[in-house]
Amino acid sequence: MEAIRNVAIAGASGALGSPIFEALLKSGHFNVTVLTRHSSEAKFPDSVKVIRVDYTSVPELTEALAGQHAVVSVLTTSAMETQIPLIEASVKAGVRRFLPSEFCANIGNPKAGSLPVYHSKVQLHDVVRQKAAENPNFTYSLIRNGPFLDWSLAFGFFINLKGGETPLYDGGDRPFSTTTLATIGQAVVEVLRHPDETKNRAVFVQDLVTTQNEMLAIAQKVKPEITWTTKNVSTAEMEDMAQQKYASGSMDLVASVGFFCRSVYAEGYGGEFKEVDNDLLGIPLKSKADLEVLIKDVLENAN
Ligand SMILES: NC(=O)c1ccc[n+]([C@@H]2O[C@H](COP(=O)([O-])OP(=O)(O)OC[C@H]3O[C@@H](n4cnc5c(N)ncnc54)[C@H](OP(=O)(O)O)[C@@H]3O)[C@@H](O)[C@H]2O)c1
Repeated sequence: MEAIRNVAIAGASGALGSPIFEALLKSGHFNVTVLTRHSSEAKFPDSVKVIRVDYTSVPELTEALAGQHAVVSVLTTSAMETQIPLIEASVKAGVRRFLPSEFCANIGNPKAGSLPVYHSKVQLHDVVRQKAAENPNFTYSLIRNGPFLDWSLAFGFFINLKGGETPLYDGGDRPFSTTTLATIGQAVVEVLRHPDETKNRAVFVQDLVTTQNEMLAIAQKVKPEITWTTKNVSTAEMEDMAQQKYASGSMDLVASVGFFCRSVYAEGYGGEFKEVDNDLLGIPLKSKADLEVLIKDVLENAN
């Protein structure tokens, strides 16, 4: 495939979109265009072309995407369906590679993929697969990275940053793959630079594999003055509760976290990636010493 040069990014102002946008710009390999909602208050550097779009309008999106080789979607979790017109417009505009807003657990694993919180992402797989089958010039890549390492640490999703009681999901010893926002940005750059090798498939990236108990031991080492107690939490029970909430129409964050924890920590859900594309993408693994630095920084900011 010809080199990808012109890249449009949707959601460039978001938690993950910002570091991906930075990585695309800093790589120096691409002409980057930002798509943003008409209603958005996000600010972007003057040097970057920004196009305001209505994500429901295929004609408007098609016009915005003229001349683009790739679209990177980093749209928010609650707006996954917004990407259907965006994919439609990408095909019409002759975009060659589409990266949906995937960036999650291994939802190719049937157990993880069946969790309701991921249904809207899984539906998009069918859309991009069908478009790719019908239009040989249109291709896609699905980047899977596990929970965001630095972001989840900073929100206290792995361990309680203030000390005290911290939940250990299914005992806290199940290994899982996890990746920092910056590494995901690097992965996006490298996927676009390796279009043939990453064509029409899931691409797995990780910084490292760890466990909650390993993180807690590091936290205790770097902050001996803080005391943690642990509470075992069953991800099966979390899923039951989340299923009931979703079934009653209450798709709140607590319910969604139940599904996220199930996909990351539960046995048989693929939380630890079996094969990763780090070598292909030239992304080295982080060491335990790197993890210690990350945990120390987060704890110092939080306490
Ligand atoms: N693996 C993990 O641990 C993890 C954690 C969090 C998120 N994620 C995934 O990462 C991806 C990005 O999530 P995020 O948390 O970074 O997103 P976010 O910050 O909530 O939002 C990203 C961007 O989406 C646009 N947006 C917001 N509401 C919208 C709407 N209603 N319709 C269309 N666009 C809208 C906004 O861009 P403009 O203002 O420029 O239009 C916003 O900056 C998602 O796929 C999410 O599921 C994964």
